[in-house]
Amino acid sequence: MAKASSVQALYELCKKTFAPAGVSPSTHAIRKVSSLMDTISSAEVGLKDDDLEDDRGHGFFGSNLLKNSARTARWAQPITYLHIYECDSFSIGIFCLPTSSSIPLHDHPGMTVLSKILYGSMHVKSYDWIEPAYLMRSAEPDHFPVRLAKLHMDTVLTAPCPTTILYPSSGGNLHCFTAVTPCAVLDVLAPPYSEEDGRCCTYYHDYPYSSFSTENRLEVNEQEDDYAWLEAIRAPPDLYMRSGRYSGPTVQEEFCFPGSCTII
Ligand SMILES: [Fe+2]
Repeated sequence: MAKASSVQALYELCKKTFAPAGVSPSTHAIRKVSSLMDTISSAEVGLKDDDLEDDRGHGFFGSNLLKNSARTARWAQPITYLHIYECDSFSIGIFCLPTSSSIPLHDHPGMTVLSKILYGSMHVKSYDWIEPAYLMRSAEPDHFPVRLAKLHMDTVLTAPCPTTILYPSSGGNLHCFTAVTPCAVLDVLAPPYSEEDGRCCTYYHDYPYSSFSTENRLEVNEQEDDYAWLEAIRAPPDLYMRSGRYSGPTVQEEFCFPGSCTII
């Protein structure tokens, strides 16, 4: 019998780990998923990592393009999302980023996200909210209040490197990526975004801590550079993302009934 693909193994482990709503998996169980993702190579998901020129990935683009203008296309290569699998409990997909493209600062409300860089280098900056929420009214009219967040990570990650994990309130739940070289990230979202269930993606702008005056300054032993004020913004107009066609091994869904398990 042919060996199951690593994508199939990831699907099966996610299915076991991320049960339908209500039950939170243990940190230990989530780390098992990240350990498995650590072993997955570009080739195993249908990508080549021996050819990193900037126009790579065009072969994966499908016809399901987001409706962005040709004018935008002249200025920036798109970020491509390759969908592998999605159910109510989790999703698996790949983001392919050309050099200098970025996914702006955004949140993952109530979600756990595992990200494995398959090839290339990317700058990652991430924050977690300070709890309880610490809000400041913006001096600018028509601006949302700003909320205090603490820096979790501000570094360049280069493949091969361990899978990163963000949790609902730790590990850098708000993050932004900028591609230093062409790069690709295998992402597991658990659960996926869902407007219906109140898990919308909100984009933010970050301001240095010193941008807003506060009556109560931070504790003496805290570095102000480790904090930032985040303001919710509309989806950035220059975010140019489109769907591509995933060409790696597909997932065979399992439906298990008491005493039997059927693959369809
Ligand atoms: Fe994200």
